[in-house]
Amino acid sequence: MPTVEARLILGDCATELKQLADESIDLIFTSPPYADSRVNTYGGIKPDQYVEWFLPISQELLRVLKPSGTFILNIKEKVVNGERHTYVIELILAMRKQGWLWTEEFIWHKKNSYPGKWPNRFRDAWERLLQFNKHRKFNMYQEAVMIPMGDWAERRLKRLSQTDQIRDVSRVGSGFGKRVANWIGRQKVYPTNVLHLATETKNRNHSAVFPDDLPEWFIRLFTLEGDWVLDPFMGSGTTVRVAQRLGRNAIGIEILPEYYQLAKNQIPACVQLPARQLSLLEDTEPLGHRAKEHNEAFIDRYSRTLNLFTQQFIQDFCDDGRIDWEKLVRFNSARLANGQSIR
Ligand SMILES: C[S@@+](CC[C@H](N)C(=O)[O-])C[C@H]1O[C@@H](n2cnc3c(N)ncnc32)[C@H](O)[C@@H]1O
Repeated sequence: MPTVEARLILGDCATELKQLADESIDLIFTSPPYADSRVNTYGGIKPDQYVEWFLPISQELLRVLKPSGTFILNIKEKVVNGERHTYVIELILAMRKQGWLWTEEFIWHKKNSYPGKWPNRFRDAWERLLQFNKHRKFNMYQEAVMIPMGDWAERRLKRLSQTDQIRDVSRVGSGFGKRVANWIGRQKVYPTNVLHLATETKNRNHSAVFPDDLPEWFIRLFTLEGDWVLDPFMGSGTTVRVAQRLGRNAIGIEILPEYYQLAKNQIPACVQLPARQLSLLEDTEPLGHRAKEHNEAFIDRYSRTLNLFTQQFIQDFCDDGRIDWEKLVRFNSARLANGQSIR
């Protein structure tokens, strides 16, 4: 049975990256320490020295990334002396000189950012996820992150005007055009480049963990099962753990022994890919757990082809874009009990 590997490395990524092979990684997803922040937990780099510190690391990342790969960098500039420091902007410019293409920028909107009051600004509720690539053509599996069209479509498509039937070109000369009638009969659409996710810090023993959904979205978008994901600033290991759950191989590097150990405690070095066949019936593990695991793998594969089955599945088992596992497991358990194959 195919397996996926998780390699956890204790050390400074500036040196540890050197042991990785050229062009071996499909996706780098990481959140380095932001300049000067969290000095009390894992140190910080002075904003003025940030670019100088990061460039040797990004040089190694450029070397290990496959030509078809993507690098997603989660970062945010801090406020220094009353203004936003420019190290992120400077870093982007320096990385372009290093050979990276700055392909796209995603925004992580932190839905639950902590309320507060500042004399001259509002609470900060978003972070950047900068996308870098080596080439203009890179692997991207957009169908893997499609979202349900939503109620608006039903309402909007019921009342189509004449303009909706033709291509309506933007009056501001942007070249953007739309034909609303094209959406009739479609169930899912591409998402935007803004991700609305809550932060997670409770019970994770690290002060800056990602919510699982953040790496998951990018891993689905830029990799397939069996691909390699790298997080050079691993922290508690969220990226590696999620990659492994999704059937991707992963490498994580962490400089602090306590965080390295935290990740090591949760992430096995090697796991088998979720069963693809109906071996479920022969299994002695609790039925619900196995059914969930099986369904996860099944959905993952089939969601890439928007066929009729998938559309039906979404209608039956998804609510607001998320799978209703209880409903699905109940449904499958009932079928198994009746001697039928599972869905
Ligand atoms: C923002 S945190 C990452 C948190 C991670 N995304 C998670 O979900 O747990 C950055 C991590 O990088 C680690 N770190 C800092 N400098 C490093 C270096 N040079 N090499 C490897 N890890 C480093 C820190 O100890 C910290 O755990």
